[in-house]
Amino acid sequence: MYRKMSEAARAIRKRHPGQPLLGVVLGSGLGDCADSLERRTVIPFVDLPHFPASTVRGHGGKLVLGIVEGIPAAVLQGRAHYYEGYSMSDVTFPVRVLGLLGIRALIVSNAAGAVSPRFRPGDLMLITDHINLMGANPLRGSNIDELGPRFPDMSEAYDRRLVALALRASRRCGIRVGQGVYIGLSGPSYETPAEIRMCRTLGADAVGMSTVPEVVAANHMGIRVLGISCITNMAAGLQARKLSHDEVMKTAARVRGKFTEFLRETIASLGEELARAPQA
Ligand code: HPA
Repeated sequence: MYRKMSEAARAIRKRHPGQPLLGVVLGSGLGDCADSLERRTVIPFVDLPHFPASTVRGHGGKLVLGIVEGIPAAVLQGRAHYYEGYSMSDVTFPVRVLGLLGIRALIVSNAAGAVSPRFRPGDLMLITDHINLMGANPLRGSNIDELGPRFPDMSEAYDRRLVALALRASRRCGIRVGQGVYIGLSGPSYETPAEIRMCRTLGADAVGMSTVPEVVAANHMGIRVLGISCITNMAAGLQARKLSHDEVMKTAARVRGKFTEFLRETIASLGEELARAPQA
């Protein structure tokens, strides 16, 4: 697996020399803010060795490298999901490759259902922590020592300094963002109302089917993480109508402009932070 990652990293470096400092994963329907990167190179996942090609509507499936707000960045537009049948190794592969390219921080975004009544469709939530209820962990199996330790710490899986910085950015651009705990389930069926009550009891504020594997893999590699959920719907049992992927995509499309502005403002204040020496 490490050999495959190195091959993919090499293929990327060949097409776009220079080290990205920031990685970004754009979630469902949030995919087009990579179009504004300067001096960009666009590589469809299918053109990269060993990259999983995503199959779901609304997931672009390309890597965009370039400069955003003065910071060299690598943006994954679209991701492979566990529910698509990919292994956890496949799901985390692109983020690990960005890790090998040298990113110091990763911004992961997703569409999520509100479990907490504090949130409404269209809200943005900074992820302060997560609960892994996917039934799998990407680090299971023999440890890849080149990437990180066997038992990585997860006590600050979402970097507190990055959350604080994002909150300041949100105030600067006048975009309200909340904070909360994300719970990851495997999907692809949406949850039952009873499962959502369980999630709430467990301490979750938003629910989704992604993010957790990538965040575990990033933490393993010592990459600092900022997570942003786009609340696209009230979770099952919290709204009268039934849930649909269409509703999720429609809300994501509605939030996209606000999300992109917030993301840019956040990235703009990241430069100094990324220049700091990596933490032990
Ligand atoms: N549940 C799980 N995943 C989701 C949801 C949801 O309600 N909304 C968007 N992704």
